[in-house]
Amino acid sequence: MKVKESATVVAKKKLAEGVYSLELETNASKYAVPGQFINIFSNDKSKLLPRPISICEINELKNTLRVVFRVVGEGTTEFSELQAGDTVEILGPLGNGFPLEGEKAIVVGGGIGVPPMLELAKQLKGSVTAVMGYRNDDLFLADEFIDAAADVIIATDDGSVGVHGTVVDAMKENELTADVIYACGPKPMLRGVAQYALEKGIKCYVSMEERMACGVGACLGCVCQSKEVDDHSHVKNKRVCKDGPVFLSTEVEL
Ligand code: FES
Repeated sequence: MKVKESATVVAKKKLAEGVYSLELETNASKYAVPGQFINIFSNDKSKLLPRPISICEINELKNTLRVVFRVVGEGTTEFSELQAGDTVEILGPLGNGFPLEGEKAIVVGGGIGVPPMLELAKQLKGSVTAVMGYRNDDLFLADEFIDAAADVIIATDDGSVGVHGTVVDAMKENELTADVIYACGPKPMLRGVAQYALEKGIKCYVSMEERMACGVGACLGCVCQSKEVDDHSHVKNKRVCKDGPVFLSTEVEL
């Protein structure tokens, strides 16, 4: 079930340079699960295509969804300028979220792949280790994982905080194991995490939301190759926005 409606901005906050948090009052909160996204439409009618933005927190009681996004163009600049009380058109929740599995989970987020892991970490029933990768000491959301995860491990590209290196370096250094790994971030990171999971024999889900454009199956800009082949031995394509964004790491070419 998804809704298209005019959502009211409850709160807006700048979390880091170019990274913003928006809390929206919307009935979509009733149907959302971690790993899904919403499409946010520009109020400028000349821009018809919405921006797909992942859900960071779901609060059914308050009837709100929180999204955290990086400003990358005109649409996201407009959203970053919204104020409490403003309204914005949204459609969602969209896509397939993360299945909640395992007694012991590792959630891995890289950069703007960190936000969807927060609601996931909160909803997972077993013990959760959160591994987060950032460029530098602009550790947006990291403090909010402290209540949601038993362990929080940080890796930074410049070595300013935590492990100097990637999330995979941090996982290796801490010799992390689990029943299941969930990851969201840039493709090279997903590839590294999937490889780590394969070597350790851990089931791994990846969210490939970085690839999305229109979010509604119209542009085909998000197509990725799956590992399935059709009757004519052709590799089957999958649309990240419709068939994902969450896939088993063994299901898609990373
Ligand atoms: Fe446009 Fe998937 S993002 S078809």
